[in-house]
Amino acid sequence: MNILVTGGAGYIGTHTCVALLEAGYSVIVADNLSNSNIQALDKIKEIAQKELIFYQVDVTDEKSVDKIFTNHEIDGVIHFAGLKAVGESVEKPLAYYHNNIVSTMILVRACQNYKVKRFVFSSSATVYGDNNVPFKENMSLLPTTNPYGETKAMSERILTDTVKATPGFSVALLRYFNPVGAHESGLIGEAPNGIPNNLMPYVTQVAKGKLEKLKVFGNDYRTIDGTGVRDYIHVLDLAEGHVAALNNLIEGTHIYNLGTGRGTSVLELVKAFEEANGIEVPYEIVERRTGDIASCYADASKAKRELGWTAKRDIIAMCRDAWRFEKNYKEFVETV
Ligand code: NAD
Ligand code: WQD
Repeated sequence: MNILVTGGAGYIGTHTCVALLEAGYSVIVADNLSNSNIQALDKIKEIAQKELIFYQVDVTDEKSVDKIFTNHEIDGVIHFAGLKAVGESVEKPLAYYHNNIVSTMILVRACQNYKVKRFVFSSSATVYGDNNVPFKENMSLLPTTNPYGETKAMSERILTDTVKATPGFSVALLRYFNPVGAHESGLIGEAPNGIPNNLMPYVTQVAKGKLEKLKVFGNDYRTIDGTGVRDYIHVLDLAEGHVAALNNLIEGTHIYNLGTGRGTSVLELVKAFEEANGIEVPYEIVERRTGDIASCYADASKAKRELGWTAKRDIIAMCRDAWRFEKNYKEFVETV
């Protein structure tokens, strides 16, 4: 089966390409490399010991997308391509709405035109807003505080409405919690540009000495130790979740939380990182970050029940693998 993976050169996309190739799928990647590096594709091939096809295209360009569907018999689409920086989305709302919404519409239209029946979409736990934890798929969504989150909620809506009007079309809306970690090989992982917005890459850069100390955004939340609680999920578990979703896709719209179901506070994550890697991570407590919520973790039972998928890797493995990639990545960058 040929799977078109948009954004396949990115953080979650690369790991999913490896998982797809290992599961026997053929992979066609469409990525404009706006937030990734062409070398990532060689790393995928090196890990999986298999080939893939790559198109350097922008998936908001209908003609380019059409060409891929003409050249290949596509059996399913996994749509990762998107802009994902929450803060930047507040500064540049139009860029986010354009990139994230138009890409979804163009890909779904291509699926209709070429009779492709399977579509897997990268959604986010951010669509739950400040609901009560644990978040369940059937909860009413609350408004998010930024355009990025809105693009995910809108894309979900576009896909749901299209399914209703398209007999035989199957869509999985996968709501990721907080993906962290990297492939055990250390060859692929998360390499954000500039100062990281997210906790784990910030921690690894402090551990490396690139940043002086972690700023912990608030210790007065109603959580176990006052710091924010999140459901960190190893990116390899997340990748395997996509294969499970693809394997089990049936007609209709199906929403799945991809998380572990366990919450970890910022300070617990720092402690786990220190324990896993034997490195101290200096930190200071600062003001809360605008837009943050106290707690966010999944009820992950639906994916287990319907897809037979659960996250297997614990927080220690996430910290160990994130650090291994950070070290390797440094060496890689220094040699090019
Ligand atoms: P990423 O930035 O590493 O990967 C996205 C990839 O898409 C990049 O390689 C980028 O070059 C490409 N891309 C962006 N716009 C494109 C376009 N118009 N045409 C072609 N390629 C384009 O991000 P990621 O962390 O791997 O996230 C993948 C998806 O998962 C995104 O849709 C993101 O919103 C979603 N998501 C991510 C997280 C997270 O914390 N990483 C959480 C929830 C959901
Ligand atoms: C985690 C915890 C922070 C950085 C974001 C997006 C979400 C999703 C995943 C895409 C929070 C604290 C962080 C730091 C800190 N992405 N923190 N110091 O905010 O849960 O989710 O990424 O869909 O949409 O909003 O993740 O890693 O930024 O923060 O104390 O330097 O770490 O306050 O409690 P978040 P995060």
